[in-house]
Amino acid sequence: MGRLHATLFIIFLVFPFYLCSSLASVIATMRDLGKRGKLETEAGQCLNKSLVIKQLDVTQEDSVKKCLEEIPDQKVDILVNNAGIGQVGPIESISMEDAKKVFETNFFAVMRLIKMVLPAMKKRGSGHIVVISSVLGLQGIQVDFHSSPIPGFCESLAVQLLKFNIFISLIEPGPVNTEFEMKLMEEVSRSDFPGTDPETVRYFKELYLPSAHEIFVTLGQTPDAVAKATVKVIGMDQPVFRKQTNPLYTPLTALKYADNTGNLSVRTFYNLQFNYGSIFHFSLNLLRCITCNCFRRRVMPV
Ligand SMILES: NC(=O)c1ccc[n+]([C@@H]2O[C@H](COP(=O)([O-])OP(=O)(O)OC[C@H]3O[C@@H](n4cnc5c(N)ncnc54)[C@H](OP(=O)(O)O)[C@@H]3O)[C@@H](O)[C@H]2O)c1
Ligand SMILES: *[C@@H]1O[C@H](CO)[C@@H](O)[C@H](O)[C@H]1NC(C)=O
Ligand SMILES: *[C@@H]1O[C@H](CO)[C@@H](O)[C@H](O)[C@H]1NC(C)=O
Repeated sequence: MGRLHATLFIIFLVFPFYLCSSLASVIATMRDLGKRGKLETEAGQCLNKSLVIKQLDVTQEDSVKKCLEEIPDQKVDILVNNAGIGQVGPIESISMEDAKKVFETNFFAVMRLIKMVLPAMKKRGSGHIVVISSVLGLQGIQVDFHSSPIPGFCESLAVQLLKFNIFISLIEPGPVNTEFEMKLMEEVSRSDFPGTDPETVRYFKELYLPSAHEIFVTLGQTPDAVAKATVKVIGMDQPVFRKQTNPLYTPLTALKYADNTGNLSVRTFYNLQFNYGSIFHFSLNLLRCITCNCFRRRVMPV
């Protein structure tokens, strides 16, 4: 039986559109069913047949249990974790309470879902868990609060689960043009960064934010491209552990592995942000000019 003849349990809005043409049975979930209109339209003929939409709040234990119980034999062959929230700002301005909320969704919810689907996967001796993470734990080029323990967690789990023929895959997009950035910027515009010194606020507003925005505009992928890359990984017989969706980030990732003291990557990112702002700006613009015709094709996973 091919990998796609399977029950997919997906916390996402975009994938089902690709998957419903296959023989997969897709369960697409969202916490607010009021937002399902767009997906229903995309799903067309598949709706309520190979694609079913269910309510799920990944941070609520009961909601996850209820959703899983409604699946025949609780048989989930492929789990895709996509729900995520972001927060960006100087660390002094982020309350511990808000920080915990981010981890509730971006980390603990992933762990919760994995815990719930694993026993049945182990019993069957097959399964695939996909987690939408981000490249280098970076949002754009700069580290922000979105950096996450997910990659390390998934890497150690991948080793343990291989024994049971269960695969884990991290999808690592760079910037993606979704509502994500807009939501972050809205939050930032509301914040007056309590507890943060003026110099830090100035760097954040005058250097970090504009370059982050520029990176989104210049290097941002469509969610479609990320969905396609994910579908490709799901279709593999031996799914890869890591899939970067934006080739423009490969050199940056290489820095991290080229020098295991971390000096190289830390210094490079520092210089990009604080010393070579104008060069950075220039190269992004150059990149935009050079690639305006073929860029879309180049970042599309094939
Ligand atoms: N956009 C980027 O640049 C980027 C880059 C790298 C990685 N990512 C990752 O990609 C994933 C998708 O992000 P996106 O760009 O598509 O952002 P998005 O447009 O903000 O979508 C995130 C989705 O997660 C849902 N969600 C949040 N909390 C939830 C919960 N407790 N239960 C169920 N659903 C919940 C949101 O639902 P509501 O509509 O109800 O809020 C929303 O539909 C995230 O994990 C994000 O971290 C994004
Ligand atoms: C799909 O199923 C949902 C929930 O059972 C129902 O509310 C909706 O009307 C159905 N839509 C179609 C097009 O069958
Ligand atoms: C790290 O980089 C700095 C600046 O380039 C350099 O002065 C320092 O010697 C480097 N340290 C190591 C251990 O390579």
